[in-house]
Amino acid sequence: MKKVLVTRRWPEAVERALSERFEVSFNEVDQPMSAEALRAALLEFDALCPTVTDGMGAEVFDGLDAVRCKVLANYGVGYSHIDVAAAQRLGIVVTNTPDVLSDCTADIAMTLLLMAARRAGEGEREVRAGQWSGWRPTHLVGTKVSGKVLGIVGFGRIGREMARRAHFGFGMEIVVYNRSAVAPEVLEAFGARQMGLEEVLAASDFVSLHCPGGAENRHLIGAEAMAAMKPGAFLINTARGEVVDELALVAAVRSGHLGGAGLDVFDGEPVVRQEVLDCPGLVLLPHLGSATAETRDAMGYCALDNLTAFFEGYAPPNRVA
Ligand code: DGY
Repeated sequence: MKKVLVTRRWPEAVERALSERFEVSFNEVDQPMSAEALRAALLEFDALCPTVTDGMGAEVFDGLDAVRCKVLANYGVGYSHIDVAAAQRLGIVVTNTPDVLSDCTADIAMTLLLMAARRAGEGEREVRAGQWSGWRPTHLVGTKVSGKVLGIVGFGRIGREMARRAHFGFGMEIVVYNRSAVAPEVLEAFGARQMGLEEVLAASDFVSLHCPGGAENRHLIGAEAMAAMKPGAFLINTARGEVVDELALVAAVRSGHLGGAGLDVFDGEPVVRQEVLDCPGLVLLPHLGSATAETRDAMGYCALDNLTAFFEGYAPPNRVA
């Protein structure tokens, strides 16, 4: 039996299914693994199933010439925590778990958008603190969502699900920034228009990020991009923390240029910088995008399918490298 290391606890049913096919070691303490432990695991296991919390940068692979590990079956769609080129150099295949989490991640993006626009976080805190003094016309007045313009940065699977919810559910007009050209029929399905990044930022009442993380998109939305956004606009990030320059965001919200933001991901998470925690107008969630029972099961089965196909000599369905 192939030896597989799962770096975090998975839903029980999927752990059972995985154990039926492989000799599996689970990380019983359910804490992120250190670079040294991950490096040692590459020598000891035939496959690793990491998650976003396992930093597998160059330091994990550097200096290794040959490893036992043949496949990294990532539990998650984003894989910018893995140095894919370094893995490839060692002949390691990398897979991810797309599609199964698009609905739920778009749901969280929509949740954040609504919460930020309608000041739901502030309202909840007020009620719990016993500080609500009753209905009045000027109380916690927010921003209307229906019919507004939503800019989507990254029009992949999750971006499109966000467009579906916003366009058909809330009558929003959709504008899109995507590195490659989006097929006209795909845009048409959501009544969307593709534009340059600056044009999208300038046209949108809400901007929702759905692009990959990693070095190439680090601070894609920085001070300059935020200055290009409409006064009073909102920024939603369910992609990766590093895509947004958080200090620039705090400055833009505090100055009143932006209306607020909703963040599910953070640069350096789970540590959230104090400036972000202290900034009013930010709605903060702890990386909940895919966190539903159905989706977490489906992600596990997807990773299992990738491993099974690979070890049976077939192309894994979700190979990314
Ligand atoms: C994903 O699937 O990319 C989630 O953000 C967790 O890694």
